[in-house]
Amino acid sequence: MKTIDDLGDLRGKRVLVRSDLNVPLDGTTITDDGRIRASVPTIKKLSDAGAKVVVVAHLGRPKGAPEEKYSLRPVVARMSELLGTDVAFATDTVGDSAKAVVAGLADGDVAILENIRFNPGETSKDEAERGAFADELAALADVFVSDGFGVVHRKQASVYDVAKRLPHAMGGLVLAEVEVLKRLTVDPARPYAVVLGGSKVSDKLGVIDNLIGKADRLLIGGAMVFTFLAAQGNPIGTSRVEADQIDVVKGYLATAAERGVEVVLPVDIVVAAEFSQDAAPEVVAADAIPDGKMGLDIGPESGKLFAAKLADAKTVFWNGPMGVFEWEAYSAGTRAVAQALTEVDGLTVVGGGDSAAAVRTLGFDERAFGHISTGGGASLEYLEGKTLPGIDVLED
Ligand code: 3PG
Repeated sequence: MKTIDDLGDLRGKRVLVRSDLNVPLDGTTITDDGRIRASVPTIKKLSDAGAKVVVVAHLGRPKGAPEEKYSLRPVVARMSELLGTDVAFATDTVGDSAKAVVAGLADGDVAILENIRFNPGETSKDEAERGAFADELAALADVFVSDGFGVVHRKQASVYDVAKRLPHAMGGLVLAEVEVLKRLTVDPARPYAVVLGGSKVSDKLGVIDNLIGKADRLLIGGAMVFTFLAAQGNPIGTSRVEADQIDVVKGYLATAAERGVEVVLPVDIVVAAEFSQDAAPEVVAADAIPDGKMGLDIGPESGKLFAAKLADAKTVFWNGPMGVFEWEAYSAGTRAVAQALTEVDGLTVVGGGDSAAAVRTLGFDERAFGHISTGGGASLEYLEGKTLPGIDVLED
């Protein structure tokens, strides 16, 4: 697979870069700029090489039409700060503004086009519609660099189809992410522990299925744990549960037992009467969640248990917060897991938008982790062993 170094002299060439700049916003304020920072090295490398850099990216999930709240404008401002240079902004995707902005670029200049998902062709399931949009995108550039690791699991115009239309290469971020994730799938150092959290079991089915054959320990927290507790026959009060997944989870627990994979569930839970930042927290045993109470975090004993189960691990992958970490009263479980990862003597990988954001918002030093992935769904699908269209397409 080609990398940027294989593309030859890029001076004066228009290089279309697909980045993942999908950052959380509070209004127009970026609350975690991790993905923007992770995108800078490739953009800078291309700009330093004298390329005219045209960055395409999405923000959120607009429905194929412009919506102000999904504008990339705040991202452009942050990118300008990080690059230390003015980044031009096209107010459309492939229209007059994009064409004019690209035409106005000097060697080494950088532009960002407006949210690529404002055009329905980007995410269309119709190959012809997607292809027509990819044609328009490709017309804006001479070369394509795929660097948005967080979207390589999407078969979308700016991720997949455009690579079929232009000479292409893998960007440094995608390369780095794939190298680390490979270490989790090919002969990982053992013990290999996986911590999964977040809200939905159904999002993680594939990865759990796959990891039951690979990991030595599976630690489960977050809202998805209530489906596990329910599968064991425990009362879960008003906690979030996916009733239709209970049988699937029972199956996992049985397979894990057969294969000698240790499934570690919390022993205590922080509950509250309602889903509210101000609700009074109470710690209860995990097998005795009272009626009318919902679990919002793993409890302190569970934090210690999880830390103990990670202490001797040589490889750890963590995806998904343990509780509602954005609220101080329910952040201790996520904090305990993050802290435990920083103490592991081995490879630690934090995967997923939410867990990566949690690590940073809780004030941990990113350097204390082996790798913080920019990909949520993408890293999970990689670990599931799925073919990622945005990587596969770069092979030819
Ligand atoms: C992400 O946030 O995981 C990526 O940016 C992909 O976004 P999507 O799930 O909306 O395709």
